[in-house]
This record gives sequence, C-alpha cells and structure tokens, in this order.
Amino acid sequence: MSILPKKWVRQLIYILLLLPTLLVGIDVLLLRLLPNSVHFVLPVNRHKAVITQLAFRECYFSVFCQPKPGFTRLEKNLFLNKKWIGQAFVEYQQSSWNDLTGDQPVVLDLAISNIEEDSKVAGNGNHLYPIRILNDLQGISGRRFISKIVGDDGKEEEVVYEIPSAKQIKEKGWEKLKYGLWVKYGPFDEFQAITNIDVLYGFEAKEVRHKWIKLPNPLLLNHVPVFFSFVRKGEKQLSKPKLKINSQGKFKILQVADLHFSTLNGTCQDPVPPLKPNESCFADARTLRFLNKVLDIENPDLVVLTGDQIYGDRAPDSQTAMFKALEPFISRKIPYALTLGNHDDEGSLSRDQLMEIVEQLPYSLSEKGPAEIDGVGNFYVPIHGSKSSNVAVSLYFLDTHKYSKQRKVHPGYDWIKENQLEWLGKAHNPYLENIENYSHIHLSMGFFHIPLPEYRDFHEKHLGSYKEGVMAPTFNSHARNVFGKLGVGVISVGHDHCNDYCLFDEKDEERDKTGNIWLCYGGAAGEGGYGGYGGTTRRLRLFSIDSQSNDISTWKRLESSPEDIFEEQILVKNGVTVWE
Ligand SMILES: *[C@@H]1O[C@H](CO)[C@@H](O)[C@H](O)[C@H]1NC(C)=O
Ligand SMILES: *[C@@H]1O[C@H](CO)[C@@H](O)[C@H](O)[C@H]1NC(C)=O
Ligand SMILES: *[C@@H]1O[C@H](CO)[C@@H](O)[C@H](O)[C@H]1NC(C)=O
Repeated sequence: MSILPKKWVRQLIYILLLLPTLLVGIDVLLLRLLPNSVHFVLPVNRHKAVITQLAFRECYFSVFCQPKPGFTRLEKNLFLNKKWIGQAFVEYQQSSWNDLTGDQPVVLDLAISNIEEDSKVAGNGNHLYPIRILNDLQGISGRRFISKIVGDDGKEEEVVYEIPSAKQIKEKGWEKLKYGLWVKYGPFDEFQAITNIDVLYGFEAKEVRHKWIKLPNPLLLNHVPVFFSFVRKGEKQLSKPKLKINSQGKFKILQVADLHFSTLNGTCQDPVPPLKPNESCFADARTLRFLNKVLDIENPDLVVLTGDQIYGDRAPDSQTAMFKALEPFISRKIPYALTLGNHDDEGSLSRDQLMEIVEQLPYSLSEKGPAEIDGVGNFYVPIHGSKSSNVAVSLYFLDTHKYSKQRKVHPGYDWIKENQLEWLGKAHNPYLENIENYSHIHLSMGFFHIPLPEYRDFHEKHLGSYKEGVMAPTFNSHARNVFGKLGVGVISVGHDHCNDYCLFDEKDEERDKTGNIWLCYGGAAGEGGYGGYGGTTRRLRLFSIDSQSNDISTWKRLESSPEDIFEEQILVKNGVTVWE
C-alpha cells in the first residue's frame, strides 16, 4: 500500500506534466496581450545623452525577462516574434554628458562581422574583422591584402587593407559582443559619441531618419536579418518643407493609397496577372518598383499618402515597414503628408507612436494635430503662391479612425467626429489673411482614408471604376457639408482598393450638401493588400493644380503600364467645381 492514494499520484503527475505547457501558454498570451504602451518603448532622444554600455539579453520566458539593472531595453525582439519561445534584446546604459565621470568610456562606434567567428583572413572578402574596424585601424602596419568591398553607398570598390592584430584592435577600444557585433569604447567626444541605437528588420530595410547610420550587414543571427542603426550627437532636425506653386504656376500632387507594406518582404495578394506555378512575388519590392517608376516620370511637388501604408498583420515591426514606405520620397527630397488608415496601427505601434515618428522624419509635413481633437493626424497644409507668402491652395487632412465603437447602433467603420469638424472649419484660420490676399482664386482639397457616406450615392456623373461596395461609415456625421462650406472642390481617399472613381457630388440643400465636390478614390498602390474583384491592377492617382487658370485636373497610372496615363479629367475649372 502506498502512502498516497493512487488517484492523487496520478493527478500530481498530470499537474507536473501540464505545468510547463501552462507556463508557455501564459507567456505567449502575455506577450500578445500586453498593451503596446507597456511592451514598446520608442528610442528616446534624451537631451545630451550618450550610450555608455551595450549588451545583449536572451530569455526563454518573457515573464522572467526583465532588463539588467541600470540598463534600458530596446523593446524589439531580435527574433521578431519568429521563435515560439525565446527572445533576444539589445540593452544599453545611457548617461547624460554632465553625469559622465572622469574618463568613463562611452560607445563611439559599432560594426558587425560579415562571417562567423574565426575563419581565416583571406583575400577573398572574408575578413575576421568588419571593414569598419579595418578602416578605423588604417595606417597601423600589418599584413596587407586587397579586397573588393561594398561601401556604405552600395558601390563596390577595391581597397588595400592591413590586417591588424587582435591586440591592436583591443587597444583601439573595440570589443566583441554576441552575434558578430563589435563595439568601440573610448573617452567621451561630443561628435563621436553614439547617442541612440535602433534595429530594423529584413534585407529591404531602409534607414530614413536624419543622420542615422544603418550598418551594411545584419547581425549573425539565424532568424530574420536584423540591422543595427545608430545616431551620433543630437543633430538638428531638418526644418519642415514649405510648399510653393512652381515658377510655371503649377503644382503636382501624387496620391499614394494603401501601400500595405510589411516588415519583411511581403506577399503579393491577388497579383495581376495571376502567378504562374512556382512563380514567386514579393509584394513590397514590386510595389516599390511601380512607385519609383511613377516618381521618376511625374516628379511631383508633393506626395499625399491616404492611409494603410502599413499592413499591420504583417508588420511585427511597424517602424521598418513605415520607413520602407517613405524612403522613395525622402531619398528624392519630395515633401509628403500622411494620414493613417485602419491597418497602420495593427502592428507594433499605436497611431500616436506612428505619427510621432513620421512627424519628425525628413520632408514630412504630417502632424499629429491638436491633442484635444479626436484622432491622430488632423492637420492643415498651405501651398503658397510662387512669389509671395499668400496661400494659393489649402489642403485639409483628417484621421478617419478605424472601426465603430458603437457597433450595435452603427456597425462598420467609425466616422469623422463633431470636434474634428469644428476644427476643420477653422483649420486655415492662422492663414486667413494670406488666403484673402491671394490674387487668384483660392482652391481647396481634402485627403483622408475612409470614404464619406456620400461616396455611396453613385450615379452617371463619374469617371473610373466602381467594383466593390463603398466601405464608408454607416453613421453620417455630415463632414461633406463642412467641406462644402469650406469651398473644398476635391476630396480623395483610399480604403476601397478596387474602386478608383471620381464622383461629381452636386450641391443639394435638402440633403445638406453645400457646394459641388468631387469625391475621388486613389485606387490602391500596394501589392500586399487585396486586389480582387476580377483582378485589379495597382494604380496611382495624380492631381495637377494650375494657378494661372485656377484649374485642378487628375489622371491615373497603372502598374502594368506606368508610362501611359488614363482617365484624365478636369475637376475644377477657373475655380468652379465642374462636371464636363
Ligand atoms: C526577400 O527575402 C529573402 C530572404 O530573406 C531575401 O533574400 C531577399 O533579398 C528579399 N527580397 C526580395 C525582393 O527578394
Ligand atoms: C514547382 O516546385 C515543386 C516543389 O518545389 C517542384 O517539385 C516542381 O517540379 C516545380 N514545378 C515547375 C513547373 O517548376
Ligand atoms: C495682406 O494685404 C494687406 C494689404 O496689402 C497687407 O497690409 C497685409 O500685411 C497682408 N497680409 C499678409 C499676411 O500678408
């Protein structure tokens, strides 16, 4: 006879067996359910802060994974949530300039090996030490070898290197951490000290922040490619661009709707034509090819992004996806203004965090907008006359949110709120005099993501395709009326990928419609988003403003034939919103 009844023993064994499963379950749940605000900290640009220590931290259970005491964690899993259990993070110690004691070393440079540990140094491009280190030690005599390298600018060049000894490298301050990362420590120097670090994911990752440097090769990790990025001394932000009608009296806007970028390559959804067996299709690369082609052809003065830049489901790191989406404009120095869609914040960052980042990027005109108004990204952008500070064109941007919060009463999508409409009515007030002083006819346009309910009033007077149901809110907050009163002649949205029409919505006092307004769709540009309805080729819409004739015209370009324009039409003629 045993001391414990057999039933108890069996139950005990079951519990013991179940315990690890339970732990993993709780862990996974916690990981998924913890609010973003707890689980994600944006790299903060503390005033005059420098990084004094770097370390990696690996853990198996997130609940037991607190940062080392005194360290700040960059809350980005280096495994990008790809491993079932197990996370790795980079952690750092920061210190203010003033708090540095004596000759306390700080981080001066970073480099990543392009091969695993200890392969022999050969002349074939496989170096024991990263090129950044060899560059840093140029002039210290050692064995010479010639290597073809790809520089930071992507160009291949032949360089003669002298191979330093391990001792010489150590004396220069370089120390080796895990995953091929080398860190150079040394005494504080205002211009050399690294003030902030970050990581971006995937071979297609782009660093677009002012003065940030992305290391050319990824960490030696057997998961997704992870690229280190860093910035030195708190560089001055670039000033916001000022929009001006050009010397020919024209201004061209490219609308980019629904890019649907992923953190990694992205998968093509409903590609046109359908893929052949075994044909592969990387959504983001294909979208970028189209976008870059149209930018080369059109060279717009402004790009307007009307939401769903990021496909949240495929963006465990939203920042990487957003940078990839904006790189074509930033590298060309084209100003851009962005509103959020319903998918942008379904990745690792909230609407607030996304706009906080985008607001500060080079050439960005996007703004979070007043905090007391519903939504993130309600803002006004003036286009000035070519020769004065008078305002020729007013552009209004609104956040159209996501899903209704009163689903029982008003199912479907959320609507533009009363306080947004109040703000909208006076958004241009700071420029009132500049608008009144403008010698020609002042024109206005509005851009956002989710269509207005009036997009449903489809009729004869339109140009373009109507292929899918209009996913407008079921509740009408009458934004249409406010836009009408403001004299907005053209509104353009995204959201419905397979509709690309412009609808002439005539004034109708009985139905609360003041002024004629063209209600347009951009038509989706991204291969990562849906595009069905019999096959819908991705497209981009352009607007041209002529300040001499006070006209606004529009046309589109297709991914399959970007050289040709189609469905060109005049929307506003001599200041009057017309159907022609
Ligand atoms: C897609 O992913 C693979 C594997 O990570 C990578 O080699 C490639 O460069 C990526 N991009 C494209 C456009 O194929
Ligand atoms: C397609 O891929 C499969 C599996 O990789 C392979 O067995 C098959 O031969 C391929 N078919 C063609 C037509 O290339
Ligand atoms: C508008 O025009 C008036 C009269 O010429 C001038 O006094 C005023 O300074 C102008 N306002 C602005 C903001 O340019």
